[in-house]
Amino acid sequence: MHYLSKSVMRPFLAALALASISMVAVHAEDAKPADPALANSLNTADKSAEPDDKLLKKDAAVKVEEGKYFDAEGHPTFHITDAGKKFDWYTYSGYRRYHAECHVCHGPDGMGSTYAPALKDSLKHLSYEEFIGILAGGKQDVSSSDQKVMPAFGDNKNVMCYSDDLYVYLKARASGAMGRVRPGDKEDKPEAAKKAEKECMGG
Ligand code: HEC
Repeated sequence: MHYLSKSVMRPFLAALALASISMVAVHAEDAKPADPALANSLNTADKSAEPDDKLLKKDAAVKVEEGKYFDAEGHPTFHITDAGKKFDWYTYSGYRRYHAECHVCHGPDGMGSTYAPALKDSLKHLSYEEFIGILAGGKQDVSSSDQKVMPAFGDNKNVMCYSDDLYVYLKARASGAMGRVRPGDKEDKPEAAKKAEKECMGG
């Protein structure tokens, strides 16, 4: 990580610190089974969604805090209701951010392009911490001769202030909970999201 400038590392470390705080907070949660009241209700008619039962189970929400859903490991996760038609705020927001900042390289709906990998596949195996780390610090396949670079977004507030949103959206795509759809109906923007956005964008 020595090649990262201080300005890149600061938000990166902040994100990691936050991640570890939420992990500590969740240990007690580990044994908790998914709350049926928080279960996802998917659209079985959507052929562009490829539900992966194992991932759907792993990503299931066990708790909700001010409109933000968390899985058993304490990482943010998606929440889809009304037979796949209604999305939690963060998944909706992640969809929008993704299509503003990432889709030029990674293709629409996380499908990938000739330049960059399909994030709907990457997020099947990348951990939350790995995702945030790559987002902040970038990534370059040193063995490849064709110089494809994932830029470091550590200094870009339009990305880093919405890193959890991007994560949950891409997790919804990776687990197949969400197909290639434009989210229509959504939960109201939580007060906590408004506050966090103001602090992050303004600070
Ligand atoms: C300028 C093009 C470009 C943009 C814009 C871009 N990426 Fe990337 N990204 C890449 C490339 C190229 C790679 C592959 C790098 C490698 O493996 O060496 C990559 C890799 C990644 C990976 C790792 C994937 C894996 O399988 O290991 C993640 C995660 C990622 N990008 C997330 C994002 C997100 C989220 C955004 C939007 C905020 C974004 N990227 C915007 C080009 C881009």
